[in-house]
Amino acid sequence: MDSNELLQLACEAAQNSYSKYSGFSVGAALLTEDGRVFKGCNIENSSFSLTICAERTAIFKAVSEGCTSFKAIAIVGGAEGNFSHPCCPCGACLQVMSEFCDEDFSIILTNGEFTLDDFLPMRFELN
Ligand code: THU
Repeated sequence: MDSNELLQLACEAAQNSYSKYSGFSVGAALLTEDGRVFKGCNIENSSFSLTICAERTAIFKAVSEGCTSFKAIAIVGGAEGNFSHPCCPCGACLQVMSEFCDEDFSIILTNGEFTLDDFLPMRFELN
């Protein structure tokens, strides 16, 4: 599975975005070490803080199915389904990624591939 295929799956995931309050749809496609893909979209709520991001939807789906080893995540997002600008993962999603992913993990956006260290060089750890 190459980066463009994973981005395409992220676009598919965004089709299910429930984003009636922001109008900003996000899709994520999470590739596991054993080659499976878990897709996620953002799901908003009228009680705004209960909204969950696409990335965490995908990660929590995978973990709840017993899968905790990941290779890459592709992310797309934009207002009214326009994905022409790169959509960076938020800090909460980066922290969740850091729970399961190491430096080999690839964060694939429409403008290239990044690592967790690129976005979150210092992360919270219980140590
Ligand atoms: N959102 C994501 O899905 N992922 C992120 O990393 C940041 C933001 C969603 C949440 C909300 O539904 C919409 O984008 C606007 O903030």
